[in-house]
Amino acid sequence: MDLFEYQARDLFDKHGVPVLGGVVATTPQEARAAAEHLGGGTVVVKAQVKTGGRGKAGGVKLAHSPDEAEARAREILGMDIKGHTVHRVMVAAGASIAEEYYVSLLLDRAERRYLAMASVEGGVEIEQLAVERPDALARVAVDPTVGIDAAKAAEIVATAGFDADTAPKVAEVLQQLWTVYREEDATLVEVNPLVKTADGRIIALDGKVTLDDNAGFRHPDHAALEDKASADPLEAKAKEHDLNYVKLDGSVGIIGNGAGLVMSTLDVVALAGQAHGGVKPANFLDIGGGASAEVMAAGLDVILGDPQVKAVFVNVFGGITACDAVANGIVSALGMLGDAATKPLVVRLDGNNVAEGRAILSAANHPLVTLAETMDGGADRAAELAHTAA
Ligand SMILES: Nc1ncnc2c1ncn2[C@@H]1O[C@H](COP(=O)(O)OP(=O)(O)OP(=O)(O)O)[C@@H](O)[C@H]1O
Ligand SMILES: [Mg+2]
Repeated sequence: MDLFEYQARDLFDKHGVPVLGGVVATTPQEARAAAEHLGGGTVVVKAQVKTGGRGKAGGVKLAHSPDEAEARAREILGMDIKGHTVHRVMVAAGASIAEEYYVSLLLDRAERRYLAMASVEGGVEIEQLAVERPDALARVAVDPTVGIDAAKAAEIVATAGFDADTAPKVAEVLQQLWTVYREEDATLVEVNPLVKTADGRIIALDGKVTLDDNAGFRHPDHAALEDKASADPLEAKAKEHDLNYVKLDGSVGIIGNGAGLVMSTLDVVALAGQAHGGVKPANFLDIGGGASAEVMAAGLDVILGDPQVKAVFVNVFGGITACDAVANGIVSALGMLGDAATKPLVVRLDGNNVAEGRAILSAANHPLVTLAETMDGGADRAAELAHTAA
């Protein structure tokens, strides 16, 4: 789960990372009150959306008085930033910035460890810096069993080239950020910019945190951080049924069992789509190993509920749950959905009891269902159906 900046700020504060006062507002009047609460001086009004580049999009604005804070909030609230509507702003105390740095901690899956990154040239151009001058961004491996202790923090700031005065202060903040990372079970903690103020203090002015949902059971308090209001309704429905579902942009709905098979199915459909008007997969949906009729019905229900879906490709490899059980699942799922099922379904079964599975589907002879012999053939047929229906 990705957090909003204000939530990251609160977690930083909880673990001793230096931050400035920040108050969330959902109306211009609340923004004015927040600016007053922060002392009536200079504040920054910041769009709270889960995407980068807010500043460049006009979502971060300075205000020198509560009046101005109200006016800036009026401009920013409701703004669209890369497809995200701004429903709240954070009114943050204004910092007098001498320098902007970048630091982050993340999970390096390929190397099975963590990675710390740091640069003395932080700020809104960091993506460009990473591409154009990668050596200006220090990358230091972090052993998960050790974490960021004083020695590791010193190594990171030395690699990034912080000056002698600043290095120990940033090293201390890195250790505090490591506490956030470990204690909260994060997979990303990024601060851009980490600033040095005119009076020499180091402060986290922006924060991006991703929490590991798999560790949710250890953090009952994390549930409250979830942004239920803007969750995709189909994703919410899938979550209710414990389905692994991700909405994508295309028109071919995909159901498979096992993440690997579903990923390959997305690839095969995307390739097949090139011959059919460029249609693409509409989603990732893994119904898992034990694909019962209920699970199949829930999966189909979610996918058919997506108005962008024009055809569905069900690609199942029978294993512990054999193909005949899956076929029965599909038939009864269609029965359960009744008139709610309106879009063509291409079904490819293989593996355990495939002959029995196909026989069940042939016998049911459902008008929406087409049987496919192969994965490539099924992908092609589903792409074709989606293209003609579009
Ligand atoms: N509290 C603050 N006081 C003074 N200046 C600020 C403050 N917060 C942000 N800024 C300035 O605005 C710039 C952009 O702010 P911020 O980093 O929060 O947003 P962003 O980087 O554009 O958004 P994102 O990180 O989502 O790409 C900062 O680099 C900093 O120069
Ligand atoms: Mg930033």
